[in-house]
Amino acid sequence: MDRESYACRTCDSSFEVFLSFGQMPLGNGFLSPHSPSDEYRFPLEVGLCEQCGMVQLAEQPDAERMFHEEYAFFSSTSRRMAAHFGEFAGQVRQRLLDPDPFVVELGSNDGIMLRHFADAGVRHLGIEPSANVAVAAREKGVQTICRFFNQQTAEDIIREHGRADAILAANVICHIADLRSVLAGIKELLSPEGLFIYEDPYLGDILTNTSYDQIYDEHVFYFSLASVSRFVAQYGLEVVDVASQNVHGGSMRYSIAHRSAHPVSDAVTTLRQQEDRQGLTQLASFHAFRDRVEQSRTRLRTALREVRATGARIVGYGATSKSTTVLNYCGIGPDDLEFISDTTPGKQGKLTPGSRIPVRPYDDFVSDYPEYALLFAWNHRDEIMANEDAFRNAGGRWIQYVPEVTVEL
Ligand code: TMP
Ligand code: ZN
Repeated sequence: MDRESYACRTCDSSFEVFLSFGQMPLGNGFLSPHSPSDEYRFPLEVGLCEQCGMVQLAEQPDAERMFHEEYAFFSSTSRRMAAHFGEFAGQVRQRLLDPDPFVVELGSNDGIMLRHFADAGVRHLGIEPSANVAVAAREKGVQTICRFFNQQTAEDIIREHGRADAILAANVICHIADLRSVLAGIKELLSPEGLFIYEDPYLGDILTNTSYDQIYDEHVFYFSLASVSRFVAQYGLEVVDVASQNVHGGSMRYSIAHRSAHPVSDAVTTLRQQEDRQGLTQLASFHAFRDRVEQSRTRLRTALREVRATGARIVGYGATSKSTTVLNYCGIGPDDLEFISDTTPGKQGKLTPGSRIPVRPYDDFVSDYPEYALLFAWNHRDEIMANEDAFRNAGGRWIQYVPEVTVEL
């Protein structure tokens, strides 16, 4: 059988797929209850470019299909994330030496991070392609323009505001298929001593935790220090610092500067050695990962079947975009889960993409606790467990699948 190969988005070499989930709907493509069942699907497949180490999707739907005026994701819905971005902003402000710094954020969403700069009177600009969240940001006093970021955007910003002392991005860069146009823009927009600081889910954590649900249409890239370093070097940039973040199920924050503008921290050296040991650029590591993913699917299906056989009710907790991969890949549907509880008003009353499980308000979970809750929002595990004593006290038990499939007895 001929194996298809794809062009690497960051170096043009060809790569092959190591893991295929089959035809998948959009991770955030929540459906109205009466929508037809022939929703849009695309082949969800991931590969490693052995030339440059970049792990990436083989194919991706058009950006316009995913980030549009009805984009369901509002960053500020999690208190924990709001606190995280407060810290992020605080750290950036400490590193800004210019007395009148200018801060740009790519994919600034509803202003969850830039708000902290706006409140402190720091010059700032958010770039956000989704109109509805951009409006929410402006309502918080966060200056926001509604467009995609590329070299042209960078030139327009420079003309109006000058170069940026900090360019920030959180959970954004891994979404952008045309990463080269973004880096070309960043190279131009960044002041000589400026820092481009971004964070995204970290490949090392995905492998360690078998968190394959990080893989869905919106995440084109699964970054490691190795792949990021190689890529940004093409633009005369280098990674000068890294810091792992306990958010989004394990993220890495990369600080990137013009070459030789800043000293390179010890954390970079340490992480590089750790990645070598973990084999983050070795195809064999990804074959082993694929085997663990398949095993995880088998175990989760078996666990749900066994629990259902006892007649117990199971409700999903958190209609995350990540859960779309799990639900469709594992073939979990409304026969397995009565509904999925979610606090986001825009998702309530809808059906999950592909698997068509009803999403209901959190009150429906609390008012009639099921015997089991399947934790989809595992990246918010600590926050959720701290809030759910009442569920436990009522005899409720958790089913989890990251890092392992577990069913509480
Ligand atoms: P995220 O993983 O992309 O942040 O999305 C988390 C989803 O889970 C979001 O739709 C809100 C939902 N959620 C709850 O329903 N209850 C909670 O306690 C938390 C933290 C999230
Ligand atoms: Zn490559």
